[in-house]
Amino acid sequence: MGRIAIFTDDPGWHGKQLCLAFARRGYIGEYVSLTECAINLDSTETPIQILGFENQLPEAVFVRGVPGGSLQEVVFYLDVLHALKIMNIPVYNDGYAIEKSVDKGMTSFLLNNAGLNTPLTWVLKDREKAVSIAEQELKQGHRLISKPLFGSQGEGVRRLEKTTDLFWLTSSNGIYYLQRFIECEGQGYSDIRVFVVFGKSIAAMRRCGTSWLNNVARGAKCEAIELNDQLAELAILATKALSMDYAGVDIIKDKQGQYSIIEVNSIPAWKGLETVCDFNIADILAEDLIGRYLNDKKSLLKIAASC
Ligand SMILES: Nc1ncnc2c1ncn2[C@@H]1O[C@H](COP(=O)(O)OP(=O)(O)O)[C@@H](O)[C@H]1O
Ligand SMILES: [Mg+2]
Repeated sequence: MGRIAIFTDDPGWHGKQLCLAFARRGYIGEYVSLTECAINLDSTETPIQILGFENQLPEAVFVRGVPGGSLQEVVFYLDVLHALKIMNIPVYNDGYAIEKSVDKGMTSFLLNNAGLNTPLTWVLKDREKAVSIAEQELKQGHRLISKPLFGSQGEGVRRLEKTTDLFWLTSSNGIYYLQRFIECEGQGYSDIRVFVVFGKSIAAMRRCGTSWLNNVARGAKCEAIELNDQLAELAILATKALSMDYAGVDIIKDKQGQYSIIEVNSIPAWKGLETVCDFNIADILAEDLIGRYLNDKKSLLKIAASC
């Protein structure tokens, strides 16, 4: 049976769903932490070592979590992902996609660079300039969001509403990430999560927050919505701009009816989404990974052998 490594420090429900989906396709999913990998050029086996895969590297790796840590630690985890890809091991999503999307500054840049609508954003080091940008925005009647450059599940995301809020404007490890707040359409607060797999938007939901923070991890309720062509296309283009196999794309529809892309998640959760759709998302992910990267690779090897 082929073995697929699932990089995670907290397998939970998603890890289990993936293992079951891989098993249905004749593969064993095995959890391993990126903290347990090493580069070892002295090895006779392989220069990248993964705990439990000493004799043979996995056929593919599925990245469900990259641990936080010092710059060196995070760079090392990404090195492992990059190196595996260089060694022709499929990495789903790969190190490049993860690196670009985990960094909110780069995500905003890449979305804008691809001509996609994303809120006005400033990323900078200088506190005085950050305060002056924020003052200017507030003066013009806009509200602002301040986010940690690396963050997820709404952690550390703050809203600046009045000039006195600037008093506690703090950087995230020395860098300010400021973004114009988008007032969403309708009553209350909501945004949209679209799940994209290999260039196809497969499902969407509205996340209705208890406040303007619409993360499911912050108590937002999930509602099923129909995907319209514009929303589906936008999510596909956002996923493409960040070179991802699959993604969870966060989009807000503003009061004028225009869509704005807030974030493109390279390691998205899908437990909330699955409560409002009637198919198994892990099956779709496993099918895509195995079908495109492993079955195609096997057929190519067979063709090469018969030549
Ligand atoms: N510019 C914005 N305008 C309005 N709401 C926002 C904006 N940016 C973030 N939010 C809200 O905060 C939530 C978390 O922000 P996000 O950038 O997705 O960070 P995280 O990685 O923590 O999920 C979003 O889902 C959305 O509800
Ligand atoms: Mg988000």
